[in-house]
Amino acid sequence: MTKTADFYNNKCIFITGGSSGIGLACAEQLVGMGASVVIVSRTNHRLKQARRQLEKQAANQSTNPNQLIESYALNVTSYQSLKRAVHLVEKKRPIDILIHSAGAAHPGYVHQLPIHAYHKQMQLNYAGTVHADRAVLPAMMERRSGHIVNVASMAGYLGVFGFSAYTPSKFAVLGYSECLRQEMRAYNISVHVVCPPDTDTPGLARENANKPIETVKLSESANLMPADKVAGRILNGIQAGRYMILPNFESRWMYAVSRWSPGLTRWIMDGMIRGIQRKHTGA
Ligand SMILES: NC(=O)c1ccc[n+]([C@@H]2O[C@H](COP(=O)([O-])OP(=O)(O)OC[C@H]3O[C@@H](n4cnc5c(N)ncnc54)[C@H](OP(=O)(O)O)[C@@H]3O)[C@@H](O)[C@H]2O)c1
Repeated sequence: MTKTADFYNNKCIFITGGSSGIGLACAEQLVGMGASVVIVSRTNHRLKQARRQLEKQAANQSTNPNQLIESYALNVTSYQSLKRAVHLVEKKRPIDILIHSAGAAHPGYVHQLPIHAYHKQMQLNYAGTVHADRAVLPAMMERRSGHIVNVASMAGYLGVFGFSAYTPSKFAVLGYSECLRQEMRAYNISVHVVCPPDTDTPGLARENANKPIETVKLSESANLMPADKVAGRILNGIQAGRYMILPNFESRWMYAVSRWSPGLTRWIMDGMIRGIQRKHTGA
């Protein structure tokens, strides 16, 4: 067994957004390493399909006879639903790791996005994170062990054209995670925040359908990561105890530049947007 498989074998991981994209890719790798996995998301048929796929994989790949694979249909905007699901899991198995991946982007021009999109993005991406974390925290604090993994985005540290509703909700996740990290040290709970670049998932395909041309072209200028690669970087980052998990060179480079030289970051972004607008909109 590899060192990573050894680390995850027999652990119990609660994954929000586990029926698709980055969350599902994490679940697949964890099941292969003998971990128990609980996936949650809203849409029942997609959730059941993902669960069946994980069960099949466990039957073929895993040697752990105590492996648990479960799913709960719920909306992360409801704190009560998350608390109920966590309570049911904890009755069987202590949750060692939370990977909170549920989230979505609603792109559009500032002056065209409906006002409720701003509220909905905060409710899903920010409040959803707080709900998931708070649901697992009491038991982890009592046990004085655990990992909380909040999936944010590169848009969590970088303003991105067309993402005026999504970006603030992910900035909020980063700010909140900083405070959580400080408070949880005394309880031996590791906090991790993930800032993926564009990742090839059903979620990205959906948001691509509504992006302004500037956002589409900005995305095309960056490398698209496969979801399984991002999942691998997340799992390695958790094991290494890394707080900021930046899955590729671009996300690391942009993080460093945006921190050390915000003016340079604005200059780069403005130049790229101006070039796109000249070529594609005649502006
Ligand atoms: N893909 C990218 O390029 C990218 C880049 C940076 C960051 N991210 C972040 O990575 C995370 C995962 O994204 P993804 O690309 O893997 O998306 P995805 O393929 O659409 O998967 C999202 C998952 O979250 C679930 N979900 C959405 N809203 C929910 C809600 N209100 N309650 C419970 N579950 C909900 C979805 O299932 P249901 O719809 O059935 O509920 C699905 O299982 C998100 O937080 C996203 O913001 C993605």
